[in-house]
Parts: sequence; structure tokens; C-alpha cells
Amino acid sequence: MTYIKIPLSKINPDAMLPADIYLCLNEKYVKFKNLGESLGKEKYDNFMSKGIKFLYIDTKDEEKFLRWVDDKSAQEIEALVNQAGEANRDIITASKTMQETIYDVFSDQELDLEKVDRLQSNVEEFVDKMRSNEQYSKALSVLVGRSNSIASHSVAVGNLSVYIAMSLGFGHQFALENIYLASIFHDYGKLKIPEAVLSNKNHVDYLESMHSHPDSSVLIIRKSEGIPEQVIKMIQEHHEYWDGSGYPRGLAGDTLYKNSPILCLANELEEFLSSNQDMPEVDRYKAAVDLVQDGGAVKWPPSFYPRVIEALKLGFISQRGLED
Ligand SMILES: [Fe+2]
Repeated sequence: MTYIKIPLSKINPDAMLPADIYLCLNEKYVKFKNLGESLGKEKYDNFMSKGIKFLYIDTKDEEKFLRWVDDKSAQEIEALVNQAGEANRDIITASKTMQETIYDVFSDQELDLEKVDRLQSNVEEFVDKMRSNEQYSKALSVLVGRSNSIASHSVAVGNLSVYIAMSLGFGHQFALENIYLASIFHDYGKLKIPEAVLSNKNHVDYLESMHSHPDSSVLIIRKSEGIPEQVIKMIQEHHEYWDGSGYPRGLAGDTLYKNSPILCLANELEEFLSSNQDMPEVDRYKAAVDLVQDGGAVKWPPSFYPRVIEALKLGFISQRGLED
């Protein structure tokens, strides 16, 4: 029997497999799943995080397998078009391709400049598409009307959190949309804080206002319909740290919604970069990477390391030509 490689990114973890699937261990092929079984999300994520990029099938199953991949992909696109409307077909098809690219990039062990370039153009493409998202454009126009600095901070956090999410292997359009929406909304509650308090760290009301702004963001956002619960969670938890030392609730580890640390990190990085504009560029970006490195085990989950550090070093330093 001979075997051929199948990219993991082509396999839908929930779908029934059209052929037996093999793993290659120490140059030996071991049957892993039978025809008719599914891979399962957990196994899939496990392979992804170990950098396993390929599974194997019997060469004679190749044509059947490729037809299955095309059918599955077409079915998924149809299901999404049914939900979102025919007008969104192009966006949905493009995001499917993006999802596969991200999975491909992620399942390689090492990131390099070329991959980071690809990730960044995916971020741009994604953000561009978000302009047609109604919740996003409404939220942004409210922000721009009320506070330019919160608006530009939120947009920058959005770009950064999508970049971090993609570098961690998030390719699913809805997961990314939720992360982006949460970034745009996260500081809404600050619009309620008087400027005199917000701009003065020594003001008697400063700490209390800061501690309550995630919850007040949530209160405002709950008034608009159709905001997914995942978005609400991320907003509520955007100042919570992995070790429980954040605010307002001091939630720790797995009690946090799993994507909240992405927004928390993007928010801190953006805050650091924008409030240290007077530093030389090279020092500023290096210090930003250090901030993530030093926050490991305390502020952010172990799953961020070393991948996020790699992605930021490449995106912040190497791409800008800021190496020593
Ligand atoms: Fe905040």
C-alpha cells in the first residue's frame, strides 16, 4: 500500500471522513481513523498546536478524498450564504480561503517573515471586509463622534488582536469577527467618564472609574440587539489577567473566556505603543515585545508562548528593519 499526504487544513474536523486516515510515526503508517468516523475538534486542535501539518490516506482514495474536500467546502459556503444572504457570497468564499491560509501558516512550527507578511495581508483583508458589518460601522461612528482618541485606540486594538488571533491559528470568520467587534466596543464605557477624571490619574474618581468601565461598556452594548455573548465576555474581561491579578473581578486561568486574553494583550500593547510615541521607534517596539515576554505566566496564558512573541518580533521589529 502507498500513502499520500493530506493537509490537515483541508479536513473539516466534524465531518465524516470519506476514507481511512493514517498518521506517519517514525516512518511507519498507523491507522488513526476509519472511513465514516470524524477527526473531532479536540484532536484537530491538538494536531494544530503540535505543528502536525499532514495526515495520510491510501493513494487509491485520493480522488474520492479531494472530491469530498471540494463538496464539504461548497456545502459550508452554501450554509453560510443561506444564513447571511446571497449578497455576501463573495465575502464568504474569500473568508473560507483565508481560513485555510491561516491554518496552513499556523500548522508550520516556525513563523518567518514571509508568513507574517501573509498574515498581515489577511488582517488587512479581514478589516476591510468588516467595513460592511453593520454593528461595526455603527459602533465606530458613535466612537468617532464622541472621542477620537478612544476611536483610534479601538481600531488599533482591533487590528492587533486580529493579528494575534491569526498568529495563534484562529481562522474562523465568526471567531475573528467577534474578536474584532469586542475590540471596537471594549472601551465604550469610558465615554461615560468625564474627561477631567479620565485624563488625570490622580483624580479621586479615577481608579473607581477605571475599575467599572468594562462593566459599563457591557451595559451599553447589551442595549443593542444581536451582539454575541462571546463579544460581551471579551469586553467584560479585557483587563483580567491570567493569574487573577486583573480587574474588575480578578478572574483567573480557565475561568476566563478563552479569547479574552487576546483582547487584553492587544489592548495593553496598543496603550503602550501609543503612549510612548516619543521613544525611538526601535526601543519602543522592543519594549513592547518585552512587555509581552515579561507578562508571561502572570498576565497571559501559556498558550501564547512562544508563538505570540515570535509573531510580534517579526511583525514589530524584523518587518520594520529595526534589528540591531
Ligand atoms: Fe479598557
